[in-house]
Amino acid sequence: MTNPLIRPEIAALSAYHVPPSKGMVKLDAMENPYELPLTLRQELARVLAEVPINRYPDAGAAELKAVLRAAMKIPPASEGMEILLGNGSDEIIQIIALAVAKPGAVMLGLEPSFVMYRVAATYAGMRYVDVALNADFTLDLAATLAAIRTHRPAVTFIAYPNNPTGTLFDAAAVREIIAAAAPGLVVVDEAYFAFADASFLPELAQHRNLVVMRTVSKLGLAGIRLGFVCGSSYWIDEFDKLRMPYNINALTQTVATHLLRNPCALYDQAEALTLARGQLAAELARLPGVAVFPSAANFILFRVANATTVFDGLKQRGILVKNLSKAHALLNDCIRVTVSTPEENQQFLSALKACL
Ligand SMILES: Cc1ncc(COP(=O)(O)O)c(C=O)c1O
Repeated sequence: MTNPLIRPEIAALSAYHVPPSKGMVKLDAMENPYELPLTLRQELARVLAEVPINRYPDAGAAELKAVLRAAMKIPPASEGMEILLGNGSDEIIQIIALAVAKPGAVMLGLEPSFVMYRVAATYAGMRYVDVALNADFTLDLAATLAAIRTHRPAVTFIAYPNNPTGTLFDAAAVREIIAAAAPGLVVVDEAYFAFADASFLPELAQHRNLVVMRTVSKLGLAGIRLGFVCGSSYWIDEFDKLRMPYNINALTQTVATHLLRNPCALYDQAEALTLARGQLAAELARLPGVAVFPSAANFILFRVANATTVFDGLKQRGILVKNLSKAHALLNDCIRVTVSTPEENQQFLSALKACL
């Protein structure tokens, strides 16, 4: 029964669905499959035992921000660059949408891309305008610039590399978009930074309308829910007003501060996954009837003759991937698989061969 008090655009949404995965090889959510080394987990247990969970956490998360700055080479506060932390970067996307959602304001997205941009626009009551990528998932620069001229978006989201395609857009084209969108904000979403040898962080000072967003989720810390956006205080100070008090809990602050002080173990795992991505892509490309798209992230998008049959076949064999066939016209018959350990990658490949 419809609830007349609920905004119609919210009533039309479905709650975010996470498919059951118990007992399956889970390759659908771009998680890092590796556990932390035992010594590191023991260390964490010791530091977590000391956390005063009877108290609210540090509201400004000052220590964590300092550690993040060093670990991620974020330009310093002395250059006017600030950081906003979120309960995952999902929360930051929502904060940004709420901040710019004046009546009639537009959010621009390049589709197919990360679904939460459109969802956050809906939450905030913004109009979402999407520009289709080319069929090979590269940027359609002319169409994007034309949409910017027509709609003057208050905010444009660019996932760099893009999810679910894995594409690392041409940096020069992204710069053109940033310049054309000004004074509108451009959020370069670097969720997959650990697997891509490219970043817009060093360019923050050159573009007043640019902010860079990252998450530690894909680096191996999806469970603690921590994302951040950095950029000029001109933007971050405004976003900070929409952040709920104490949004980063004490356990998350402690784990992240401890691990990012010496993030070698996490970066080593990311490096292993980047290597495995090349091997998995090459093996996939050798399979008849499989078309593989280039990826700069920790997942691979590929096309088969009948993605839904293949998805179901993989599921029956205990392998969970993401069937994107219905997500966007350009993704027809496309499946996204997370790069995992060599063992899980082989399990996936064997199951896929059996399905094809
Ligand atoms: C491009 C992109 N941005 C942001 C996120 C959200 O990450 P978080 O776990 O920090 O909310 C994802 C998650 O898949 C993503 O693919």
